[in-house]
Amino acid sequence: MSQDAFRLISPGGSEIELPVRTGTIGPDVIDIAKLYKEQGVFTYDPGFVSTGSCESDITYIDGEEGVLMYRGYPVEQLAANSNFIEVSYLLLRGDLPTSTELEKFERTIRRHTMLNEGMLNFFKGFRYDAHPMAMLSAVVGSMSAYYHSEMDASNPDHRDIFAHRILAKLPTIAAAAYKLNIGQPFIYPRNDLNYCENLLHMLFAVPAEPYEIDEVAAEALDLLFILHADHEQNCSTSTVRMAGSSGANPYSAIAAGISALWGPAHGGANEAVLKMLEQIGDTSQIKKYVDKAKDKSDPFRLMGFGHRVYKNFDPRATIIRDMCHKVLQRLDRKDTPLFDLAQELEQVALKDDYFVEKNLYPNVDFYSGIIYKALGIPTSMFTVMFALGRSVGWASHWREMIADPTTKIARPRQLYTGPAQRDYAPIEKR
Ligand code: ACO
Repeated sequence: MSQDAFRLISPGGSEIELPVRTGTIGPDVIDIAKLYKEQGVFTYDPGFVSTGSCESDITYIDGEEGVLMYRGYPVEQLAANSNFIEVSYLLLRGDLPTSTELEKFERTIRRHTMLNEGMLNFFKGFRYDAHPMAMLSAVVGSMSAYYHSEMDASNPDHRDIFAHRILAKLPTIAAAAYKLNIGQPFIYPRNDLNYCENLLHMLFAVPAEPYEIDEVAAEALDLLFILHADHEQNCSTSTVRMAGSSGANPYSAIAAGISALWGPAHGGANEAVLKMLEQIGDTSQIKKYVDKAKDKSDPFRLMGFGHRVYKNFDPRATIIRDMCHKVLQRLDRKDTPLFDLAQELEQVALKDDYFVEKNLYPNVDFYSGIIYKALGIPTSMFTVMFALGRSVGWASHWREMIADPTTKIARPRQLYTGPAQRDYAPIEKR
């Protein structure tokens, strides 16, 4: 790390030197950790637009160039050559596995897919129409009750067990939530199937008849999970790190991350995109909705457009658009009105001055919902699918944060704009 200095002039005219830190790639970072102690001022950055919160060697994004790399490997290469389990190993351990390491890791994940039977009782307590993201967050939170005794954060083996449990059991919890919603019996995992095949089995099999795995669907899910696996300090991952920084049980921290992901500005966007496309209805209505999105007095936004970091294109969106095309073709879908509408909407928005000037491009979720829909996954499960992919990113970040000796409890400061001190008045005098 280079230690150049960044110089500021204080309002009193004195020069302040702030150390500058340099990462492997990417912009330098001004280290302001001692600013308050030495100068008595805070920095102000709502939404952390210009603020780094930690050091990390997991994922790199260049928003201007549309670059996304996991542990240095471009996501395009991983999407073309790897699979979700291998990518999970890479994110958690830092390097690609040898075949022996991969075999062992995959066996571990496959052998821990079952839930403690008591956890299934939680589902009996939810209303039949509970949103699966609410159930996912609640039941993952309950893992802190079930697996508390093997969760000493200072023990590296426990940290591994935690990550393996998250990866292995989340699909089972997600499928149980879906089965509750549709009133079908819970389907136990099959450890002879790979990660995505098993997920499809738990979602779509019924005890009354054999279920044949759709390999196109399994492949598409695997690709989507690779693309969603990590995205550095996004809202849900930062939530996991922030909750975990207090030393909280990591299953609770993951539950907090799931709740953050659910918001429509984050992982909830894939569900929102599909609802929006259905609302737009057909290509003749595109102009009306694009105008609504540009109208500042109208809260409507084009869902699936824009990204805090990507300001030229989202590399995941390019991969996913191609996959969307392939999935629809391979499933022999001749009738693809939503996909056609999405493509047309993308073209109109990409040529529109408002979207061009503000660098608003389709993000990964613009097309993922269309793929999920084609695979028969209901809209309410879209964000759950995102959570399954992202779970390994959350676990990797929690592990990195907890093992980092410089980690402090996350505790931002504020610019206070409330009343200055005033005296309490008895109720009859107010
Ligand atoms: N439609 C219309 N206008 C938009 C959109 C949109 N989708 N996104 C941003 N803008 C406008 C804003 O109104 C703002 O205009 P202004 O400068 O005139 O005030 C400008 O573009 C910048 O937008 P911000 O909201 O300030 O940008 P920010 O980085 O805070 O937000 C976000 C990024 C939340 C993704 C935003 O673009 C958005 O709401 N998009 C739609 C939801 C979505 O698709 N989310 C998924 C994100 S990807 C993911 O989580 C996997």
